[in-house]
Amino acid sequence: MPGAADSRERAAAPLDPTRRLLRACRGEPVDRPPVWLMRQAGRYLPEYRRVRERVSFLELCRDVERAVEVTLQPVDLLGSEAAIVFSDIFVPLLGTGVALDFAPGPVIAEPLRSAEQVARLRVPDPRESVPFVFEILRVLRRELEGRAVPLIGFAGAPFTLAAYLVEGRGSRSFPALKRLLYREPEVLRELLGRLTDLVVAHLNAQIEAGAQVVQLFDTWAGILGPAEWREWVLPTHREIAAKLDRSAAPLILYVNDGAHVVDAMLEAGPDVISLDWRVDLADAARRAGRRASVQGNLDPLALHAPPAQIETRVREMVRAAAPARGHVLNLGHGCLPDTPVEGVRAFIQAAKRLG
Ligand code: CP3
Repeated sequence: MPGAADSRERAAAPLDPTRRLLRACRGEPVDRPPVWLMRQAGRYLPEYRRVRERVSFLELCRDVERAVEVTLQPVDLLGSEAAIVFSDIFVPLLGTGVALDFAPGPVIAEPLRSAEQVARLRVPDPRESVPFVFEILRVLRRELEGRAVPLIGFAGAPFTLAAYLVEGRGSRSFPALKRLLYREPEVLRELLGRLTDLVVAHLNAQIEAGAQVVQLFDTWAGILGPAEWREWVLPTHREIAAKLDRSAAPLILYVNDGAHVVDAMLEAGPDVISLDWRVDLADAARRAGRRASVQGNLDPLALHAPPAQIETRVREMVRAAAPARGHVLNLGHGCLPDTPVEGVRAFIQAAKRLG
């Protein structure tokens, strides 16, 4: 039941999952928060591993039939209330001229560290360079119609893409990226500009192909302090938020390790801010208020807890999120390869019992 701090009305009748997610993103009344999980299609699922045994990860991203199949697995097997298109934040880079591999994380053979390399980065029309992404979305929309389950598209944010492109691989502190930021800021600025154009084109093309919500993942931007965030990250989020077809699809902005930048996330103007588990959800929900909905934010490793404890955490999160105009139940980061399927099931079932 809504408490004193609850700014929301409840929808009178039960909603279908599509309307529930869209309404929660926009801060309209819902019967209960919708639930899905970041990285819900992946190696923790035996059914995913079975499909993946036969193809490489990039082949799977390009194979329309198999990509549709693994996208639907968490919906059909676990009851997730949204489908997120199977792809990767690196897929739009396939058309840019950058040589890319997965081992299993992204690896860039020749990291971009000079003005000349950045100048060679092409920004193609994604509908021509990676047409399979949009075909996967179109097929998924048809598949999901009968289930009334919404389809989420996504992209990596410019800073996170730049972090991998400059560093060459994932890192704790991204020293090569920071060296570029402090010694050759104009090179990084040019790279972020090109990547912002790429992300806008990729997300709008996904919306055109049927994505009903889009999520921007800024997984690594949390390595910057608040002042550097305002200089390097906030302008990219603002530009993307302004250039997307938001009337067709609300925007969720995810930042990992971003407890120090919650206000700046709101300033970018997304429909939803998606928070990692280090963020005090009650505090973030108060800051969001009527400006944005909140998504999150269970520690993915808390899915190892017994089901009753997961249910308690779900109820606590819902209570904490009450001051925000809407709440989407999710993790604070993605599912991991050793995530217990039973924990995912318990999380989704606990959300459904809130109704
Ligand atoms: O289920 C879904 O959420 C949809 C698909 C999805 C993948 N990657 C599939 C994937 C999504 C939304 C992503 C986003 C992504 N990819 C992010 C942002 C979210 C986050 O987790 O922070 C990032 C940083 C990447 C880059 C990336 N791709 C990494 C670091 C890895 C390796 C990590 C790992 O799980 O080993 C990948 C590969 C990848 N992307 C896999 C999957 C299912 C594992 C590939 C495999 O099958 O071997």
